Amino acid sequence: MDKSTDKIERKILEEALETKSLGRRLFFYEQLDSTNAQAKRLIKEITGADNSKEQENTELTRRADSLNGTLILAEEQTAGRGRQERGWSSPKEGGIYMSFILRPNLPAMSCPMLTLVAAIAVNEAIGRVSGLESLIKWPNDIVINGKKVCGILTETTGLLSEGPNIILGIGINANRKDFPEELKINATSIAKEKGSDINSYLLVAEICNSLERYYDKFAARGDLTLLKQDYEKHLVNKGKQVRILEKEGEYLGIALGISEQGALLVETEEKEIKTIVSGEVSVRGILGYI
Ligand code: BTN
Repeated sequence: MDKSTDKIERKILEEALETKSLGRRLFFYEQLDSTNAQAKRLIKEITGADNSKEQENTELTRRADSLNGTLILAEEQTAGRGRQERGWSSPKEGGIYMSFILRPNLPAMSCPMLTLVAAIAVNEAIGRVSGLESLIKWPNDIVINGKKVCGILTETTGLLSEGPNIILGIGINANRKDFPEELKINATSIAKEKGSDINSYLLVAEICNSLERYYDKFAARGDLTLLKQDYEKHLVNKGKQVRILEKEGEYLGIALGISEQGALLVETEEKEIKTIVSGEVSVRGILGYI
């Protein structure tokens, strides 16, 4: 990125930020392999490798905590990564590639729920900046008019003694105009659906603002009790027939909503309520992606 553009974009972002910590420490890159990979490198660099002694652990925790809220942004990724070992197409034109480092003061078992918290926040921010109705496809894709505009990849590093580092990677097809043939069926961009470009840096700031608000609501309970309604209100699958694809096979059911822990609740044709935990399972609509 040429330095003057970098400064202008930084300014737009910083002026729109209303947060205490999210996005306050910002790293911009013209090109990275992956913003999630860069976040991991940064954590390693700041905390160092040796953590064998107790007093060093306290120092490690302090250093890791200092990274809470850090945001890494890249204009382009050469090895963008998606969920389930897939890649994430990350060309220079029109994409937003961002990763937060979070140090939640929560038990490790609560951390996977953060990905649903992020989905609520990103969905709200996209709606606010674009004026379009966007929806969440469980667990954390954001869709507009039935096609995907955003994916979220949450990863965890760190030892139990110093608490987990959460890396929350968000990829958005913001102003992208072209997609390769194999992505065209299920992917779109905000600009394509709106018919005009959006301000990407304003969207990044709005994501920081929304995420901090929802994160505080989540942290109050350590689960999704207070956010279930916010999530389900925008859940594209709710009340619809879905196809659950598991390693062992697939079955049909009606998506009822989510549990307080973020699992998808599905009523099967045999009237059994299944609790679908994110991971290896994929959820599809009856005819396709939605
Ligand atoms: C998905 O499969 O839907 C998740 C895609 C997540 C992509 C983002 S782009 C920024 C961050 N860096 C990566 O390498 N991946 C995530």
